[in-house]
Amino acid sequence: MSEALQFWRIDAPGQTLVLSSDGGIPGALYWGPALHPQTDLAALSHACEQEVTGGMIDRLPPLSLCPEASWSFEGQPGLVAYRDGKPLYPRFRLEVTDGEEFTCRDNDLGLSLTFLFEVVGQTISAKATLESDAEITLHHLAAPVLPGPQMGQEIVDFSGRWIGEFQVERAPWRAGIHKREARTGRSGHEHPPLAYFPEAGASNTQGTVFAMHYGWSGGHVMLAEELPSGRRQIQWGHACGTRTVGTRFDTAPLYLAVSQSGFNGCATAFQRLLRDHVVTWPKPETPRPVHYNCWEAVYFDHDMAVLSEIAERAAALGAERFVLDDGWFGRRDDDTSSLGDWEIDRRKWPDGLTPLINHVERLGMTFGLWVEPEMVNLDSDLARAHPDWILGPQDQIEGRQQRVLDLSRPEVRDHLFRKLSALLQENRIDYLKWDHNRLLPIADAAQTEGIYALLGDLRRTFPNVEIESCASGGGRIDAGILSLTQRVWLSDSNDALERLRIQHDAALLLPMSVTGSHVGPRVCHTSGRTIDVRMRAWIAAQRHMGFEMDPCELTDEEAEVLKRVASWWKDNRHWRMQADILRLDSADASVIAEQQLAMDGNRFVVFAGKARSAHQIMPRPLRLTGLDPQALYRIDLVNRDELHHLSRGNTAFKDGPLVLSGQILMQQGLILPWQFPETVWVIEGERQ
Ligand code: DGJ
Repeated sequence: MSEALQFWRIDAPGQTLVLSSDGGIPGALYWGPALHPQTDLAALSHACEQEVTGGMIDRLPPLSLCPEASWSFEGQPGLVAYRDGKPLYPRFRLEVTDGEEFTCRDNDLGLSLTFLFEVVGQTISAKATLESDAEITLHHLAAPVLPGPQMGQEIVDFSGRWIGEFQVERAPWRAGIHKREARTGRSGHEHPPLAYFPEAGASNTQGTVFAMHYGWSGGHVMLAEELPSGRRQIQWGHACGTRTVGTRFDTAPLYLAVSQSGFNGCATAFQRLLRDHVVTWPKPETPRPVHYNCWEAVYFDHDMAVLSEIAERAAALGAERFVLDDGWFGRRDDDTSSLGDWEIDRRKWPDGLTPLINHVERLGMTFGLWVEPEMVNLDSDLARAHPDWILGPQDQIEGRQQRVLDLSRPEVRDHLFRKLSALLQENRIDYLKWDHNRLLPIADAAQTEGIYALLGDLRRTFPNVEIESCASGGGRIDAGILSLTQRVWLSDSNDALERLRIQHDAALLLPMSVTGSHVGPRVCHTSGRTIDVRMRAWIAAQRHMGFEMDPCELTDEEAEVLKRVASWWKDNRHWRMQADILRLDSADASVIAEQQLAMDGNRFVVFAGKARSAHQIMPRPLRLTGLDPQALYRIDLVNRDELHHLSRGNTAFKDGPLVLSGQILMQQGLILPWQFPETVWVIEGERQ
C-alpha cells in the first residue's frame, strides 16, 4: 500500500543525497554534487519518474536502500537471510525517522532494519543494522544501497598483492554483476575496499566522480550491478556468510564521496576523512617523527652491539623513532617459531630491552616494537599449552608457517591483553608495529570484531602508544583498522620505483600522515633493483618518512643526501601533514606526479617521478591543479643539484626560481628539465 511520498535530504560539503519513501524502505532519489538548498524535492521526484515497457513487470519501485526480493526486484537483493532453514522475504515499512536514522519494520517476520546517515567531513557515512526478534542466519546485508552513475562507463576498483599494493583495475559497466569480494578475513591486498565510479571523461583533476570506501577490516563484498532496466545499483557489505546466526547485524560504515574536480575531489575527501575524523592521534600537537626500522638491516639477527651502532647512525641521519622489528621474543631465529610467546628472548637480550631503549632515548629517539599478536606458530609454548585457541581445522594450509588465534574467544583476548600490557608497562615503548602475516583459515567477522575489541582495550589503557597496521605490508588498510591505529605499512616493497606507483594509487584513499614510507637498502631486497639514494630518499619523503636499510652500508655522500632530505622533510612537515595529495594528470606516461597542496592553498610541493624513459624526446609540460588562476606563485626546484649534464637547453628552472600565475601553471603547465629515469623532481611553490 503506498502512501504520500516523503523526502529527506542529507547534505555534506560538495554532495547531496536525497531519499524518498512512499511508506516502504526509502530509496535514493538523487546522489550527486551538492543541490541548491531550495531544490523542490517533489519536482525532482516527478522529474525522475520512469516508464516501464515490455510487459515483464508493470512498475519499477524506486531503487531502495535495501532492495527487497519480495517486490519482484530484478537484481541482487540487499538482504539475504534465513530462519529455520527457510529464506526470508521481508517487506519493510518505514516506521520512524529523524531524517538521519530511518527505522523500518516487518512485523510479520519480526525484523527491524535501520539505516543511519552521518556527515563526516566531506563524506557521508552510511550504515545499516538488522535486528530480528528471533535468531536468523544471515548471508548478506548491504550497507545502504545507492545508484551507480548513468553517465559513467567504467568501474575503477583495486587489486593488489604482496609488494604490489593498490593496483588500479578498470572494468566496464555492463549487464549483470561486477563483483569484488575479499574472502581472506582481511580487507586484503587482493581487493582493497575502495571503488571509484567516474562519469565519462573524468580525469584526476576534472569531471564528476563518485567514490565509496567500506570501513571494515574483515573482508567485504562489492556488487556493482547493471539491471535489465538499465538502472545501476552499488552494494557493499561484509563478505557473504562471514556472520551466521544471531539477532543483530551491523554493516560497517560505507563512506560516500562525490567530486566535480575529478578523482582528486573524492581522494582528498577520503584523505581528510581518515586524517581528521577516523584516526585518533595520541599527541596531535607532536610532529610525526622520522622513523628508523631495523627489519631489512638485521632481520631476526638481533645483537645489542650491532643495533646500538645502527641506532647511532640512524639518529645521525635524522631518525626520531627507532622500531625494533621481528626477532626479539621467544626463540625467534626465523619465521618457523615463537609467535605467541611474547617474552623477551634472553639469549639475544640478556638484560631485556631496557639497555637498547635507554640507548635509543639517549640518542633523542623514542622506541617502537614489532608484534603480531593474532598469530601463533605451532612451535611455541602458547600453541603447546592452548591448542584449542587456534582457529580453523587441524590440517589447514598454513601461511608463513603460522596459524591464527581465535580472537572471538574472550580468554584469548584477555591473554593477549595481559601479555601486551606487561610489555608496555615494563618498557618505555611509544609505538607498536602490529603485523598480520597470513590469511584466515576461514573468513569470520567475529575474528575482526575480536581484534577491534583488543585494540580498543589497549588504546584505552595506553592512550599514548601509537600503533601501525601492517599485514605483510598493505594487507589491512581501511577506515576500520585506522580508527584504532595511526599508520599503515603500505607495502613491504622499499623499491622506490614501485613505491612511486603504489603511493600514487594509494593516495586515492590515504593521507600522507598515515602512510609509512622508508628508504630501503641500495640493492632492493624485494626487487633486486639498485636505485640511487636520491630517488629512494624523495620517495620516502613523499609520505611519513623513515629509513630501513643498514646505515653502515651508506657512503658518506649517501648519508649526506639522507640527512638533507630528512631535514627538508622536518622543515616542511608542519604544513605537509595537513596537505591534500592531488594526483596530477601527466601528459607524459613515463612521469607519475602529484602535488601536495597546503590546507590554506598558499603553498605546495610537486613530486614528479620519472618511472622510465619517455616515448618522446622532450619532457612534456606538467599541469598543476587546485591553484588560484589569478594569483602569482613563486616556484623553485628543491633538488636542482640533481641536474644532469645530459639535460641540455635552457629550461628556465635550471637557473633559479620562477614566478608564474596559477592560470599558467594549471593551463600551460611547468616545463621541467630533462631527467633520467628513476629520478624525481621536487618543486616547491608559494603564493606571492
Ligand atoms: C612483514 C612485514 O610487512 C615486514 O615489514 C616485517 O615486519 C616482517 N613481517 C617481520 O616478520
